[in-house]
Amino acid sequence: SLLTALGVLAAYLLGSISFALVASRLFGLADPRSYGSKNPGATNVLRSGHKGAAIFTLLGDAAKGWLAVFLASHYSRQYGLPDYTPGLVALAVFFGHLYPIFLGFKGGKGVATAAGVLLAINVWLGLATLGTWLFIALTLRYSSLAALVAAAAAPVFAVLAWGKDGIVLAIGIISMALIGKHWQNLQRLMAGSEPKIGGKKEALA
Ligand code: G3P
Repeated sequence: SLLTALGVLAAYLLGSISFALVASRLFGLADPRSYGSKNPGATNVLRSGHKGAAIFTLLGDAAKGWLAVFLASHYSRQYGLPDYTPGLVALAVFFGHLYPIFLGFKGGKGVATAAGVLLAINVWLGLATLGTWLFIALTLRYSSLAALVAAAAAPVFAVLAWGKDGIVLAIGIISMALIGKHWQNLQRLMAGSEPKIGGKKEALA
């Protein structure tokens, strides 16, 4: 339907807004694509030393994912849009973050945005996945490893909850893309050179 197509386009554009860049400009910090992992995301903004900017990034990138899927679900019910609308909108906002039109299609890794998307799909699914992230982050202190484990767990939680379903397929695609975006983190984790959360500053190669 036309409304679904417009919603997908709007979600992609919303996803393309990088809150790492917004926060950095707002707080007068360097471009996060110039230091640390070079990733425009909350974890890397934290490496600037400005916790407020990192939290702003995390909440902004999560909120855009949440808002897109929340609105898609709401209007799908109201206007009887096709069942697949929220799933397509979830993919659009997530891939907007990964491949933003405003940044030459070089975006972030999608962890915060995926968290917002999952919370909007189902709050228990979101909380279970966030809990998985938090558990790994607090015990092993690697943001990337926490994201990788949570991304692997989310589709499992979703299958257990709903079985075979369109939204489960969308979650699976999001998880695979997120894991793919962490390729360099995976290599650093295996090489033992991935920096820990709040650890001493190390040069990232
Ligand atoms: O949220 C991204 C995180 O999983 C890894 O970020 O900057 O360490 O590559 P970064």
